[in-house]
Order: sequence, then structure tokens, then C-alpha cells
Amino acid sequence: MSKATDTWVRTRAACSKLVVLNQVDSTNTYLAEDTDLTDYSVVISLDQTSGRGRWGREWISRPGEGIAISVLAPASGRVDAKNLTLIPLVVGASVVSVINASSQIPVTMKWPNDIMVGEKKLGGILCEVRRDHKVVVGIGLNLEFKGAQPSARAVSLSEMTSVNARTLDGLVAEIVRQLTVNLNGLESEQKQLVTEALGTINRFVRVQIREGVEWTGVALGIEDSGALRIRRDDGEEISVLSAEVQHLLQIGTKPW
Ligand code: BTN
Repeated sequence: MSKATDTWVRTRAACSKLVVLNQVDSTNTYLAEDTDLTDYSVVISLDQTSGRGRWGREWISRPGEGIAISVLAPASGRVDAKNLTLIPLVVGASVVSVINASSQIPVTMKWPNDIMVGEKKLGGILCEVRRDHKVVVGIGLNLEFKGAQPSARAVSLSEMTSVNARTLDGLVAEIVRQLTVNLNGLESEQKQLVTEALGTINRFVRVQIREGVEWTGVALGIEDSGALRIRRDDGEEISVLSAEVQHLLQIGTKPW
């Protein structure tokens, strides 16, 4: 492909190797299996047919309506599959800061992996640790719904900012650049970045740690590990490393 027709020219310059796939089952699976790719290689596709989300859920996007991005992050001594809480938060905060730089409508994060516009989901993060301890950072973003809205709780980037080949290339390139910096940052800097991006802090939340085990309370902040600190309605303060969180209506807000 000549430079003049390279749609992903900026992204290519921001990463070590770029793989653009017309169609793929899952960009995360592709990156998990291709052990020849070096750190900060990036796999992208606008047509991911078996996208995966957290807790074994599917990440569904109609062809061309969303972008799947996977970035290979270097192995880190402090990370394994069980304590993989801070990295997805740093990834989400990086995505939030990049989008907010070009959008009039504020984007925030819902702990631990959702990119939100208000209470609607714009995207999600799925980070997975490979056998060689490198981390596959997966980002899915809704770009533009061409048919019916897939869900009343979904929102696309085109509702907030202009989305075309040039702007998308700029966005992905900047996300990769931010990841390169932020994933290598000090834990204290990472925590601050995440705290600034998290819309969950100070919210009333319902937290489900597994089927049938849930509490409501106020989200107070995050621990160094990325765990969410909550003051439960019974007054006890707890930290959760992995859970589903629902933002509840604030006192005084109306449900319309
Ligand atoms: C979630 O909301 O539960 C996370 C969704 C993550 C989707 C992204 S798209 C790129 C990467 N490839 C996948 O199969 N999943 C992630």
C-alpha cells in the first residue's frame, strides 16, 4: 500500500507493527496467538465477528459500526490474570482522555471497564494476560449505528464527534501513544489518571461480585491495585477487585 492511500498512516507511525484485518473473529484472540508480534503491535478491524467481553460475554458490533483494537503491552512483573485490575482502568482512562480532547460531550469511565457517555455505553475494555505474561489490551468502540440502535443503552462516537477515515486514524494513533506512556507510568500517576476519568467515584452504586452476592453503597475511590472502595449502606467499607457495577440514580435526579 502506498503512503498516499494508507488509511492508517498515523496509527502505523505510533505503533511497532500494525495489522489491519478486513474481518477477524477477535482481535484479542489474534494477538494472543501471534507470538511473533513485538510489544506495542496493534491489530485493528472494523468487522469483528466473535468479539469477547468481560465475564465470558459477547461483544457484538455490526460490520463497520464499531472498531476493535488490540494492543500488545509488555510483560509486567506486577501483573497476572488474578490482579489485572489497574491495567484495564489505565487503558480506559487513556481512551477517555483522547476522546475528550476532540469531543464536546464528556466521556467518562464506569469502573472497571466501560467507556460511557452519561449512562450509555460507548465502548469497553478487555485485557487478557498471555502465557508469556504480556498483556493483550482490547478496546471496542461503537463508531456509527447505520441501522436501528442496537440497544437503548448504547451510544456511538458519531453522535459526539466527526468520524471518518482520517479522524479515526488520528484517534487510534493517539490512543496507542497514550497507552505507551500511561502503561509505563508510575502507579501513583496511573491512579490519578484513573481517578480523574472515573465517573463512578461519589456515585451510588450496586456492586455484584458474583451471582446472588451484591450490595449497594457509595463508591469512594480506588486503591493502588485499582480495586473499588465502597461504603456499603450498612456503613462498612469494603474494596472489590472484580465486580459488576451499576450506577444508581442520584438522590434528587429524575429518571427521565
Ligand atoms: C466489555 O465491555 O465487556 C469489554 C468489551 C471489549 C471488546 C474488545 S473489541 C477488541 C477486543 N477483542 C475482543 O474480542 N474483545 C475486545
